[in-house]
Amino acid sequence: MSTHRSQRFATRAVHAGTAPPVDQVPASVPIYQTSTWRFDTSDDFAAVTSSERPGHVYGRGYGNPTVEALEAAVASLEETEAAYGFSSGMAAIHATVTTLAQAGDRIVASRAIYGGTYSLFASLLPRYGIEVSFVDINDEAQVASALPGARLLYVETIANPLITVADLDRLGQLARQAGAVAVVDNTFASPYLCAPARYGFDLVVHSATKYLGGHSDLVGGVVATSASWRRAVRATTLDVGGAMAPFEAWLCLRGLATLALRMERHCATAAALAELLAADSRVTATHYPGLAGDPGHEVASRQLRAGGGMLAFELEGGLEAGARFCDSLEVAWIGASLGGPHTLVAHPASTTHRQLDPEARRAAGLADGLIRVSAGLEDPDDLLADFSQALDKAT
Ligand SMILES: Cc1ncc(COP(=O)(O)O)c(C=O)c1O
Repeated sequence: MSTHRSQRFATRAVHAGTAPPVDQVPASVPIYQTSTWRFDTSDDFAAVTSSERPGHVYGRGYGNPTVEALEAAVASLEETEAAYGFSSGMAAIHATVTTLAQAGDRIVASRAIYGGTYSLFASLLPRYGIEVSFVDINDEAQVASALPGARLLYVETIANPLITVADLDRLGQLARQAGAVAVVDNTFASPYLCAPARYGFDLVVHSATKYLGGHSDLVGGVVATSASWRRAVRATTLDVGGAMAPFEAWLCLRGLATLALRMERHCATAAALAELLAADSRVTATHYPGLAGDPGHEVASRQLRAGGGMLAFELEGGLEAGARFCDSLEVAWIGASLGGPHTLVAHPASTTHRQLDPEARRAAGLADGLIRVSAGLEDPDDLLADFSQALDKAT
């Protein structure tokens, strides 16, 4: 304090509030809301920058204690050595695939992947000279014949639009046999339902925006992997940007603490909604891996802790009935994203895919009456009543 008395106002305004040393562990990880760090000497700065000595340098992905705490938590839940945080799921996916593949390489990817990932693979990667073969990952022969010579296999544990489940055990084996790096987007499952590293997946990516964060209040991404792949993905991110910010990491840490509790409720509610819909004659199909008879049920039973929080169903009456159902809901919301406290529904035929003609929609697996549901954390009975009254109005 006394040294500051000799300094003028503006200098004290800058320097008097330096972070105090703390040698106790707080219950909540502090938000290190800083873009840069002080070094005692230039030699120190050089040693930390070149990784000769641990320390922090700069906010754009070099490392921040709050982000590192989140990375450690995700690595623990995903049962990997390390993890690395991003500003979005797409930043994680972009950095991961462009770290692994270069011009002249080929990727084998599931055709059933998130639309943003599909666009990255189909439009951007070819501009980088990376070729992508899209396959039906539930057709083992197709995957096996596409894999030889491929640099990596890319799948999602649970995927849109029909809530399909990938057989990670088998796909991991096929990737290993072909010498391809195995990458999985585990966003829909979350590590609560499945830890793909157990099946030999080398890199596990997440949109942390969804179940990991869990409160629809952050946009973020993570890749969980080995320490050496983390180093490589981090090096890409230092060049292209897209690293996670400390406040998002803090929000995500706060969300992770309740991941197990939330997932139990998401899964129980999704199962109850799926049962209601499957028993209703106005519903022509219900897609939920937790239902006996669902094509993904057998794989889900050995690979997932529960059926998940996502479901989809098809209404008789097609486009109009689908839109009317969504518009009639009073508890559930119409909206993008998933994995938050609010139950969200989306009707692709009248929203995200309305520009496609019905034939093209059908080819993409999107029946005109298909509705996707992210089961939220409301009282399940309120949701069951809401879905029942909306079914009555829609059909
Ligand atoms: C399965 C999946 N992966 C990746 C993403 C992209 O994540 P973000 O929106 O955080 O970039 C999404 C977004 O909806 C997603 O659903």
